[in-house]
Amino acid sequence: MANHTPGELVVRKMPFEFPEDIDPHWNKDKPEWSHMVSGASLAMPFLEPYLIRTMRKALERIESDALKKEVKLYMAQEGQHFQQHRRFNDILIGKGYTALLEVEAQMKKEFEEFDQNRSLKFNLAYACGFESMALGIGHWLVRDREYLFGGSDTRVASLILWHFIEEVEHKNVAFDAYQAVYGNYFYRVFGTLYATAHVVKFSRRAYQAMLKKDGLWGSFRSRWALLKMIGRFFVNMTPPLMSVCVPGHHPSNVKDPQWYRDWIATYGEDEHAVVVLDTDNLQASFS
Ligand SMILES: [Fe+2]
Ligand SMILES: [Fe+2]
Repeated sequence: MANHTPGELVVRKMPFEFPEDIDPHWNKDKPEWSHMVSGASLAMPFLEPYLIRTMRKALERIESDALKKEVKLYMAQEGQHFQQHRRFNDILIGKGYTALLEVEAQMKKEFEEFDQNRSLKFNLAYACGFESMALGIGHWLVRDREYLFGGSDTRVASLILWHFIEEVEHKNVAFDAYQAVYGNYFYRVFGTLYATAHVVKFSRRAYQAMLKKDGLWGSFRSRWALLKMIGRFFVNMTPPLMSVCVPGHHPSNVKDPQWYRDWIATYGEDEHAVVVLDTDNLQASFS
């Protein structure tokens, strides 16, 4: 059950820098996309600690030592992710997007309620479901990286791509934990749909607040650009989410992208080469 992950997960402490000069429109050509990504980033310091708490509870129910080891490495990776997002989110809020504080308060409340009032089965199905979505997003971001991040601020692009490289890397862990403890197929599908809708709900609230602050929410042109990006999200995310819902699905059967492999291999040789990506040449492989 636990032997799906090829190689051991690596906990990378990435030395990203988020100085005050980061523009909230970090992709100048695509302010709506900038805010969609930042909206998802806003959720991470609430969502990922919740995943860690859930997996810590699941550890007590897992018998396989190999899977327990993977779960602990998974928790350490997620711990790094949300700390980096926290620093980036604080910059955004400091730039005057104070309406995000209200969205944060609501997320804090809901994830605490999940901890207190929901079963471990629900929380673990949520974790498994979120990871299924994250794997699909990882593939999309890597495949479409030139369009989505080309010419953007490398500090933000590098943060997001590092995060989702590791989402691809730990694709099996929450799935295997859910299978080991519960394994019910229909509830796993429910968890996937629930987690996807829940994260999308909060990301939407956040980007809506940012676009309102920019005065773009009422602009037809901006709304059309936003709608096109949302369409792109659904076009790219529908196939992976559908394949997750097929009985017998296992994330280890999802083939890893070549650029992902190159990123991992390059980090193994020279970690500085991947900390700051060249956003003017994202099609290039490292090795
Ligand atoms: Fe993560
Ligand atoms: Fe993850």
